[in-house]
Amino acid sequence: MELATVEALDLAGADMDVPLVGGGTARAVNFDFAASSPALAAVDDAVRAFLPWYSSVHRGAGYKSMVSTAAYEQARVDVARFVGARDDDVVVFTRNTTDSLNVLSAALPDDCRVVTFLGEHHADLLPWRRHEVQHLPIPPDPTELAGVLDDALSALGPGPALFAVTAVSNVTGECWPVAELAAVARRHGARVVVDAAQLAPHGPVELAAWEVDWVALSGHKMYAPYGVGALVGRRDWLEQREPFLAGGGAVAFVTDDDVLWADAPERQEAGSPNVVGAVALGAACQALADHGMDRVLAHERHLDRRMRAGLETVPGLRRHHVWGDDHPRIAVATFTLPGMHHSLVAAILSAEYGIAVRDGCFCAHPLMVRLMDVDPADVPRISAEVAAGNHANVPGATRASAGLTTTDDDVDRLVDALGRIALDGPTWTYDQDPVTGNWSPCPDDRPLPDLGCLPPT
Ligand code: ALA
Repeated sequence: MELATVEALDLAGADMDVPLVGGGTARAVNFDFAASSPALAAVDDAVRAFLPWYSSVHRGAGYKSMVSTAAYEQARVDVARFVGARDDDVVVFTRNTTDSLNVLSAALPDDCRVVTFLGEHHADLLPWRRHEVQHLPIPPDPTELAGVLDDALSALGPGPALFAVTAVSNVTGECWPVAELAAVARRHGARVVVDAAQLAPHGPVELAAWEVDWVALSGHKMYAPYGVGALVGRRDWLEQREPFLAGGGAVAFVTDDDVLWADAPERQEAGSPNVVGAVALGAACQALADHGMDRVLAHERHLDRRMRAGLETVPGLRRHHVWGDDHPRIAVATFTLPGMHHSLVAAILSAEYGIAVRDGCFCAHPLMVRLMDVDPADVPRISAEVAAGNHANVPGATRASAGLTTTDDDVDRLVDALGRIALDGPTWTYDQDPVTGNWSPCPDDRPLPDLGCLPPT
């Protein structure tokens, strides 16, 4: 199988060594792509080329402002093309997916009802709670999703409605049947927004082909970590109310006591925009599209099969997913080892093996409560503990998530390290923070690099 690690898709910082506890180094292995991904070399190049030209956009009369405005607007075109937008869709630059979904939440009609399943990231759960919202339980069989949604939307009755769904779970990597669910929503006249944060770096996003109304994504997950995201889709609802953020740039005219808001996208982009971020995101979209998202997805599926086979050999390791191992997914594995705290596993992988993973509840508490088989009767107690400052019993797991430059060797190193940890435990000493419940090496003798932006050691 051809892997997607071609020259054009090099990532900044690949092939670096990191220090291990007790001395020594190891080649850094990144299995934390789902949280934040390194910059593509092509993005780094585009940003370097652009920076000397950086200036104000839509405001300045200078030549560099003209160049910056053209670059910013071209980035919209690149993002629109990348997500397969319709000609009349609008691209709003935001900070990230959370920001995008908050922008949309603020734009919903007053009487709009929102429906979601309880598997969503908090970014696609909490903004909707400003409206009448219905949370649907996730059925144990994915073929029942459409029926559950159909029933919920039938019961809503007339009036505006929005169905919000993720394309890929950030916790399990499982793909949601977006097009099928969008068809159900359309039959009921409901609009659809797709949280594409986890799909966009790993597989094709198809706004028009899915027949959904909006997609939201984040640059920091798609190899353009410059603080930018996007909301792409229908213009009408984004132009009917006061925007999420009020301020300069979002207006056509302001009087002493009134304001005439600009059209979208400017209406939703108050303040000086993140031009460098937009250029970076546009460059990432171009590089990924040129490479081919089908090839990226094929690479993911290859890695997923290898991870799945490897992790099965780790004694006692339990993978957590909603619909089972065979459900279509990207290369994400969320797991626990018996008798070992998820944060301790992550700390050992980092400190003793140079392998970066994420642990915790992945900004998806309701889903983690279900995945970790927490008794619903215990949820109020956990909630009360957290309110009192004790986070130790919040359910959690360890997550390994792959990306463009992940190799078979990386997967094998992860599997080998987990096998050793499962059999022999740590070879260093670790302490648990009684408040957060997080484990860390004690002592941690790994030096920080001399970067100029770090405290002197
Ligand atoms: N939502 C990001 C993650 O899953 C931060 O890690």
